[in-house]
Amino acid sequence: MSEMAENAGENLAEQRRDLLAWFDEQQRDLPWRRSREPYPVWVSEVMLQQTRVETARPYFESFIESFPSVEALASADVEAVLGKWSGLGYYQRARRLHAAARLIVAAGGSFPTTVEEWLELPGVGRYTAAAIASIVLAVREPAIDGNVMRVVARLLALKESPKKSAGWRAIEAKARELLDFDRPGDSNQAIMEIGAAICRPRRPRCSICPLEKDCLAAAAGEPERYPAAGRKAPVLRQRRRVAVVESGGSVLLFRRPGDSARMAGLWELPWIDGEPKEGSEEAFGQRYGGRWKVGPQRGRVRHGVTNRSFQIEVVEAKLSSDNEVAEGPEAGWFRRSDLAGVPTTGLVGKVLRLLDT
Ligand code: ADE
Ligand code: SF4
Repeated sequence: MSEMAENAGENLAEQRRDLLAWFDEQQRDLPWRRSREPYPVWVSEVMLQQTRVETARPYFESFIESFPSVEALASADVEAVLGKWSGLGYYQRARRLHAAARLIVAAGGSFPTTVEEWLELPGVGRYTAAAIASIVLAVREPAIDGNVMRVVARLLALKESPKKSAGWRAIEAKARELLDFDRPGDSNQAIMEIGAAICRPRRPRCSICPLEKDCLAAAAGEPERYPAAGRKAPVLRQRRRVAVVESGGSVLLFRRPGDSARMAGLWELPWIDGEPKEGSEEAFGQRYGGRWKVGPQRGRVRHGVTNRSFQIEVVEAKLSSDNEVAEGPEAGWFRRSDLAGVPTTGLVGKVLRLLDT
């Protein structure tokens, strides 16, 4: 091994030791830390998903008293479980915990023995699976939530955003390196606690942090600069052909589905994706029904919504017969003068103004 690599290895071993030494000295006496049994650890980690340690503590104790084993939890009514959860919030967690208990019992009562198996249970995501497996099974799997991400991004003075895959991979690799080989669960919990109590988003308390001497952000004097903010999602450019069908002073609009992710229920002009040279009339017919005749181009507009920028070609269009598209909940003819009172997408006004110029 080269001298440098050897030093790096020693440094890492020292970091792991520093972290555990700090944890052994500082850790709070928490009821779920008194055993490494899967059941209490699992219950506690689900509670801690969205609840702070001090808030969760009394709930944990009374929950375990009422449901002392996975069998007891499985055979309880879901209403009783929700009752015990009452006050903790995010009740979906309790429903999933209960459903998972029934799955475990139905499968013979044994708990998962790998991270992957834990992940299969309802209510157990990456972070929770890693936390449980590291504590209960001594698997060296880093449990990375927002707090841990911040600590590790600062240790590395990471330039990339953790929201990008390169940044995330660097954080995962470093977090894994920090885990002790025998007590990875304590290492994970130590980093969690540093993230919650010491390496705060604002004004981290570096002078009492066990990782300070190896922290590149602290060394550079600007820990708050990390984690690097991710740039906004790149703007997607998209071409779209929008048709204006007018008849007797009215314009034809269609209503967006009520379950659309965006602009649900608003009235919009008919459109198709892209600006196909051929097949445009069939495409409109397929989307909206009727036989379409697509006429001359009337202009172009740009339209931005959240992270998309539409380049829109506006065309005139006609239907073979005005009543080919049945008026109803999804389609309607609107007088131009009445449109002010109709909930339309922003693009409708933009396009109609273009036609008026
Ligand atoms: N947050 C989630 N799990 C935790 C744990 N085991 N200890 C402290 N904070 C936590
Ligand atoms: Fe966070 Fe400061 Fe500790 Fe670095 S030294 S991990 S910035 S608290």
